[in-house]
Amino acid sequence: MTSVTPAARPARTPPLAEPSGWHEIHLTVNGEPVTAQVESRLLLSDFLRDRLRLTGTHVGCEHGVCGACTVLVDGTPVRSCLTLAVQCEGAELRTVEGLARPDAPLTPVQEAFHTCHGMQCGFCTPGFLMTATALTEQDERPDDTEVADALSGHLCRCTGYRGIRRALGRALDETYETATDSQHPQHSQQDSRQGE
Ligand code: FES
Ligand code: FES
Repeated sequence: MTSVTPAARPARTPPLAEPSGWHEIHLTVNGEPVTAQVESRLLLSDFLRDRLRLTGTHVGCEHGVCGACTVLVDGTPVRSCLTLAVQCEGAELRTVEGLARPDAPLTPVQEAFHTCHGMQCGFCTPGFLMTATALTEQDERPDDTEVADALSGHLCRCTGYRGIRRALGRALDETYETATDSQHPQHSQQDSRQGE
């Protein structure tokens, strides 16, 4: 019978994980400049909720499935539970708090969700609103496949999705079809600013 001698252990076992370092990050959150010291491993969702007290970003599954934690990073919907705060150095972030300030009217997307009953308990709503907002800010209206793809990244336990789909359709109609000229409203704003 052959006996197997266990390999000799190294004299010193390396640590399982290096101690987390700290970094200074600079970013913009809902139009406000933010500078913060963050640990390497700090999640963006925790940074927003615990450090900045922006608790409108909800955390459900914590592993990229439900979409509740979606925020916009440089205009792109991103799962904040799968993103590290340090990855946002220099980025422009928008959360649900940045859509309509308390003293301002609702955005077309928010208005459409309200009118079309696109929410019930509201837990999933911030994530849907941010993805819907990104869809209304594209240069061209997204087609049905793009819309379906975008919505497939979000789970809602209450609505059955019909109200959400209606709301998104309404917001897209308002954004892309009822603009007073043939240009996207964002471009019209940029043109008028350039003319000032
Ligand atoms: S909490 Fe981030 S995707 Fe569910
Ligand atoms: S409205 Fe309750 S989870 Fe979507």
